[in-house]
Amino acid sequence: MSWFYRTFVRPALFTQDSEEIHNRTLSALGRVSRSEMWCDALATFYGAPQLPVEAFGVKFPNPLGLAAGMDKQAAAAPVWPSLGFGFSELGGVTWHAQPGNALPRMFRAVGDEALINRMGFNNPGAEALAARLAEWRRLGRWPAHPVGINLGKSKITPLEKAAEDYANSFRVLRPLADFFVVNVSSPNTPNLRQLQDKAALDEILAALQEVNGWGSIGPRPILVKVAPDLSFEALDEILELAGPRRIAGVVATNTTVARPAAMDPAWSKIYSETGGLSGRPLKARSTEIIRHLHRQTGGKLPIIGVGGIFDAADAWEKIAAGATLVQVYTGLVYEGPAVARSIVRGLRERLTERGLTGLSQAVGLEASSVGLESVV
Ligand SMILES: Cc1cc2nc3c(=O)[nH]c(=O)nc-3n(C[C@H](O)[C@H](O)[C@H](O)COP(=O)(O)O)c2cc1C
Repeated sequence: MSWFYRTFVRPALFTQDSEEIHNRTLSALGRVSRSEMWCDALATFYGAPQLPVEAFGVKFPNPLGLAAGMDKQAAAAPVWPSLGFGFSELGGVTWHAQPGNALPRMFRAVGDEALINRMGFNNPGAEALAARLAEWRRLGRWPAHPVGINLGKSKITPLEKAAEDYANSFRVLRPLADFFVVNVSSPNTPNLRQLQDKAALDEILAALQEVNGWGSIGPRPILVKVAPDLSFEALDEILELAGPRRIAGVVATNTTVARPAAMDPAWSKIYSETGGLSGRPLKARSTEIIRHLHRQTGGKLPIIGVGGIFDAADAWEKIAAGATLVQVYTGLVYEGPAVARSIVRGLRERLTERGLTGLSQAVGLEASSVGLESVV
């Protein structure tokens, strides 16, 4: 299936503008999402086998999720389980609706299987997202897997008011998702990444945890998404907040502002575009960050590993480095709709080959006595 997509479908799609194709695909999937019959039909081609895993108190049917940014408006929320995903992270969403940066703002470096984007949190705002999710629920089309929401900061909100901005979004969306991700690592909102500084992040998390204590719906797990460009020291400072601010996990990583050292000259024009780089060239750095976080926390803090996952070997590498869950964005663009099923199948095969009975036994395996060579 992936071969067919790569050979016939992808070349045709890639003759068109990246964001335009994205929007058209999402709107088609949005129409499919309204029909249980169509979703079931898709699931027969693309549904993934079970590979259950539990993290931060949430049960996932399999560990492969849809990364943030793919479905910012929950336009196709019900369809992602039918495409084999074990969870979806919707958004990023901000308190104020905003158009994002000027077009064009999404570029492909096809030879390197990478994307560069500077979307700038184009989204309808937290209240509109809440209304869309409530509508899916009303229609009986709530996604059949855990749903996370990625929270960003509105561009018009100054950094000093960031905590209030995040808390406003969280207040309206809290009843509608299983977990939340505080995104302080997008390179495309001016100065946003300064919010990864310990004091600023502490303020945001304090505001969110205050909201988290309200009412009768119970606290939601709050994770933090980090940039691959952070130093290990800066990551360690963030980890110091895990206990006091009840961080449920870390999503590692967002896109990078770095560019590959050995660039194919054919793509140098694309690489000179401002924005965050995702896909294959991000893989090694994001795994390195996961490995560091796992080591520093002794495996006690769940990690969602994301960055350059295209197949089961890539996903296994992240899990062996310490990720409990994994996500894809660019891999879906390059490998097509069968990517989740193929990754989950491949992970199950790897567990069987090694005589492991559950995915949790593979998490951080490379750090154990087994040794890296024998597990990847
Ligand atoms: C077009 C695009 C939009 C994105 N939007 C968001 C976003 O809104 N919030 C976020 O946390 N990450 C966002 N990301 C980052 C992805 O969630 C992911 O962390 C990153 O792309 C690395 O994974 P990948 O190599 O599988 O793409 C976006 C990525 C792309 C390519």
